[in-house]
Formats: sequence, structure tokens, C-alpha cells
Amino acid sequence: MSNVYILGSGAMGCLWASYLSQYHNVSFIKRRAIGEQYEFTYQPNNKLIRCMCYDAKTLSRPINRLILATKAYDALDALKPITHLLAEHTEIVLLQNGLGSQQEIVKHFPHLTIYACSSTEGAYKPDEHTLVHAGHGLNKIGALTQSANFQSLQSWIPNQFILWQDSIEAILWQKFMINCAINPLTVIYQCANGQLLKNSDYHQHLKKICVEIDIITTAKGYQLTSAYELARKVCEVTAENFSSMLQDARNHRHTEIEYMTGYLLKESARLKLECPNNQTLYSAIQQA
Ligand code: PAF
Repeated sequence: MSNVYILGSGAMGCLWASYLSQYHNVSFIKRRAIGEQYEFTYQPNNKLIRCMCYDAKTLSRPINRLILATKAYDALDALKPITHLLAEHTEIVLLQNGLGSQQEIVKHFPHLTIYACSSTEGAYKPDEHTLVHAGHGLNKIGALTQSANFQSLQSWIPNQFILWQDSIEAILWQKFMINCAINPLTVIYQCANGQLLKNSDYHQHLKKICVEIDIITTAKGYQLTSAYELARKVCEVTAENFSSMLQDARNHRHTEIEYMTGYLLKESARLKLECPNNQTLYSAIQQA
């Protein structure tokens, strides 16, 4: 058994704790925690998961294995207080939505062993001590820095939980396309994902947003299914779901717009391409 640390105790952090606590000593790193325990029940099995909690000040051992499960906008800042505990061999798996936070972290810690994960798992926490694993999905993981490789990752994350990808960038971009297409529109129209297909005005808007996403995708050299086709399938399968961005907006939390449409606009500016519909959408979300 080795020590695995998790930063972020939301649904994804808890899901990984439930996976890895069968094989390792799993501890959460929280803002303020002095060796206390954190328990939650994994549903539907009703299994109790018990982990220790530490904060950056009470941790003195080096961190060898870390799952970073914060929101995208917290990711880099969450690592800063534990920088002194990270070494070249430290392996970090990034679980963030969108794009941009992964690039910020790699720029800041180029010498670490960093992986990114693109997940289709469905999980939520109806309360602080319950995790509902609502839909089993795939965790596609690949290397973001040179020292990251499948063999090292397999030595602590069992194969049953991951699907190794030789080129994770394209996988992350594809999920990013879907998030850029669906998430901001669901906030503007305050609707479930499926409504973006059912309501003809929303549907037209979705198509316009997707055309611009495709232009940037092609300019970046990716040959992927169109953003509209990708988004349409996800809207159909998750018709009744409320996107993560809409849930954040409704709960008066920060949204991940900077790491979705915000990042798309940065890429479009870099490539000297116009994205007027996405620009308007971005401004509207910022004012919402
Ligand atoms: O961010 C989300 O909520 C989901 O990734 C998505 C793609 C909108 C499906 O519900």
C-alpha cells in the first residue's frame, strides 16, 4: 500500500478515493484539516469510504502520487501551497474540465510527471457524506509531460479504472468542443441539455456556436467529428441533465467559462480567426 493524495473532495475526488482506497492509503488535502477523518458512503453499494485529511501545513512527507480533482479555476492555486512536497518523480493526474488549466500547470511544473484525464463518469454528491455513482464511464488518461508513461501510471492505478491514450490532447479537445457547445448555452437559456435540440431557437444558436468551434478545431490540425454532431449525441443521451456550468451558475458558484469558451477565444485570437457568436456568448455568461 502506498500513499495517494487527493486535492478536491467534490464528486470526482470522492469517486477516485472510492476506487483507489481499495489499494492504497488515500488522504484528502484540504485547506484546513489536522489529521481528521472524512467519511462518505458510496452509492448504490452503500459502501463506507474512510480517508484521512491533511492540510498543506500538517503534511511533511513528500507527495509521490496525487489526484488533482478541483475545479479548473482552482487547479494551479491548489498546488501552490504543496509545491515544497512535490518532486520530479511526483505523479499527478489532472481531472479538470475544459482546457487551459492543464497547460498552466505543465508550464508551472514542467519537471513533474503529469497526466490528464478526460472522463465520462457520472457522479454527484447530494450531501457532504454521500457519493452517488450515477453512470459508469471511461477515464481516458494520457501523458502531458515527458516523464509520464503508462507503465508508471499502471503501477498505482489499476487498469480497470483507466483507458490509456497515446495522444490525450485530441481527446481533451474533443470533450472541450462538447463543453463549449453545450454548457454556456444551457446557462443562457436556463435549460436541460436536451432542450438545446428541442427548442428551434436554441437549436439554431447551438449550430452557429458549433460552426465556429469547427473552424478553430480544423485550424489546430485536428480531424474530428463536427462539434454539432458531438454535441447533438451528448444532448440526446443526457437530455434531462443540467450541465455542470448551469449547476454552478444556479448555485452562485464560479463557472468554468474561462476554461471553455474563454480558452476557445484565446485560441481563435492566436490563430487570427473570428468567433463572433462565441464572443457574444462569453460576454453574456460573464455578465450573467
Ligand atoms: O459539463 C457537463 O455538464 C457535461 O460534461 C456535459 C457535456 C454538458 C454533459 O452533461
